[in-house]
Amino acid sequence: MVQVSGKTIIKGVGLYFAAAVSGYLYLRSSKAPAPTPGCGCGGRHDRSGSAEAGGSSTEEEGADGQATFDRIADFYDSCINTDEVFMGIKLMRRWLMRQAEGDVLEVSAGTGRNLPYYDLPRLRSLTLTDTSRHMLVNAADKLEAMAAKQGPAAAATPVRVELADAQHLVAKPGASSGSSGGRGGDDASSSSRVSSSANDVAGSAASSSSSSSSTPAAEPQTAGAPHRPPLREPRTFPPHSFDVVVDTFGLCSQQDPVTALKEMARVCKPGGRILLLQHGKGTWGFINNVLDNGAGEHFRKWGCWWNRDIERIVKQAGLEVESLSRWHFGTTYLCVARPPAAARSDAVGAA
Ligand SMILES: C[S@@+](CC[C@H](N)C(=O)[O-])C[C@H]1O[C@@H](n2cnc3c(N)ncnc32)[C@H](O)[C@@H]1O
Repeated sequence: MVQVSGKTIIKGVGLYFAAAVSGYLYLRSSKAPAPTPGCGCGGRHDRSGSAEAGGSSTEEEGADGQATFDRIADFYDSCINTDEVFMGIKLMRRWLMRQAEGDVLEVSAGTGRNLPYYDLPRLRSLTLTDTSRHMLVNAADKLEAMAAKQGPAAAATPVRVELADAQHLVAKPGASSGSSGGRGGDDASSSSRVSSSANDVAGSAASSSSSSSSTPAAEPQTAGAPHRPPLREPRTFPPHSFDVVVDTFGLCSQQDPVTALKEMARVCKPGGRILLLQHGKGTWGFINNVLDNGAGEHFRKWGCWWNRDIERIVKQAGLEVESLSRWHFGTTYLCVARPPAAARSDAVGAA
């Protein structure tokens, strides 16, 4: 019988994670296709400095980042699926989404990778948002497949797919278009049910857009089947309208992640929670060197700054951290936070 000491097991586990993280970094750098000529980035983003905490990236970089997500939307899932299994990311998604309840807003929802992990009967409503139409049409497809599989079980929960900028979730004073008007899940005009087809999602998105704007913006060409949501105009939401706001792997991609977190806090109810699963700067020097050196290239391929200091960003946004754990040499952040106390007292005062 072979005797294995505790030290050997610990070393083995350490080696496994080192290999997994190195593999992940390598694969994420190499798997994405090169930017299309139309991307127009021409190497302009090759400045790892713009990934510093708080994100000092420029308007120009943000725009190109968006084009990247439209470009990679259709193969985003297949590119990262295996990595997520080996890295335990799917387990983290499951753990985090199980904490969602009530009216839930997900920002930067992308292709809807968290959809399978929500416990829908515990939700009053679910609103998936992103700035990339191409990502969202993939989410709508996932929603349709899920509805077909789950049948009436999930039928009671309205699920919406909406275009919205995480940095502008609340309408500016005086702005009239785009607001959903009601509480997180109570705006019947723009809601669809998970049991309904993506045709319904498309229909509801269309009706909510047209009801809020008499002259809907010209719709850019959207890839995919006609049942996919038309997503004409970015939505905004009333302050304090969601019980839970979710953002997984969005802070690396939003142009101004501090502002985005502040906006998430604004639409979150007093006492509500902000659930974050993010990647960024690690706790080990050698990993951070790899991240810093490859940051520009990674941004061009994936539209995300993988070396942002997430902990600092959360702190700068003033969120109250309820729990924070870091994994994979500190590069993966699992965080449950609450809106700042000031935002809570503002809401109480306004009520
Ligand atoms: C790395 S993907 C993450 C997708 C998904 N949340 C996940 O967990 O896989 C980042 C997403 O952020 C979106 N995004 C970038 N800037 C944004 C913004 N200002 N507001 C909302 N979404 C944004 C992109 O379109 C993209 O879908």
